[in-house]
Amino acid sequence: MIVARTRAALRDARAKLGTVGLVPTMGFLHEGHLSLVRRARDENKAVVVSIFVNPTQFGPNEDLSRYPRDLDRDLAMLREAGVAVAFVPDASEIYPEGFGTRIEVGDIALPLEGAVRPGHFSGVATVVCKLINLVAPERVYFGQKDAQQCAVLRRMILDLDLPVRMVVAPTVREADGLALSSRNSYLDAAARVRAAALHRALRAAEDAFLAGERRADRLRARMEAVLAGSGHDGIDYLSVADPDTLRELEAIEHDALLSLAVRFGATRLIDNLVLDRL
Ligand code: PAJ
Repeated sequence: MIVARTRAALRDARAKLGTVGLVPTMGFLHEGHLSLVRRARDENKAVVVSIFVNPTQFGPNEDLSRYPRDLDRDLAMLREAGVAVAFVPDASEIYPEGFGTRIEVGDIALPLEGAVRPGHFSGVATVVCKLINLVAPERVYFGQKDAQQCAVLRRMILDLDLPVRMVVAPTVREADGLALSSRNSYLDAAARVRAAALHRALRAAEDAFLAGERRADRLRARMEAVLAGSGHDGIDYLSVADPDTLRELEAIEHDALLSLAVRFGATRLIDNLVLDRL
């Protein structure tokens, strides 16, 4: 595996590869990231993984400096997974002196995570656009875990005619349903147990949906009731939205994206589930 730390080294390594699948990450890798790597390996000649804790997607009061990092472990995992190139740039390599352009994302970035984290998706879109331009992959891989991120990036790729196919892979979970996340490492033992309530809440709403409930407020109330028993430290949102526009629904006609963001101490966890009327 080649570890490229500069754009020039990446360009040289890329030139020797055939069809490429790109997996953008911020490191501190887990099975969720590896599921994307495996999928990319199955569908392309070579896999490029970027590890870059992107400063422009963190707000002033967010966890950029304490975001978990373990590069040696990450690189060992990627070597083991058969990755061709790990792109591990410094911030100055991606945002050199004088950098001034940002991608302005549309309405899809306004609700949910976008409402709680202003500017976040503009930072995500900007860095992902740069990574796609630098790597020039045939396919780029993202996790359903970050459903709004997928929706924003799908829109960007379409709107800006980026010549890449986007693949979304399912959320990988712990045995108790908690979605794998680098941020889970912030949870103490008690909060870790309570955090399984996010998935239980989604499943409770799904059960109600499968039993015929179509009113979004009833589904939100189901999620809230399950979470109330979990001892969380605040709910940022409980959403039943149109999966394409992310607009809140009153009643579900066809399908819906259930999503939530819940705080445990200083740690915010997100999760989601798609309801589909078969
Ligand atoms: P990061 O949080 O490191 O996630 C990298 C990719 O892994 C994202 O596409 C995310 O959705 C996916 N992922 C995370 N947890 C997952 C899980 N449990 N199951 C399946 N996929 C999972 O998301 C980012 O980094 C950044 O915003 C990035 C896109 C790299 C831009 O900086």
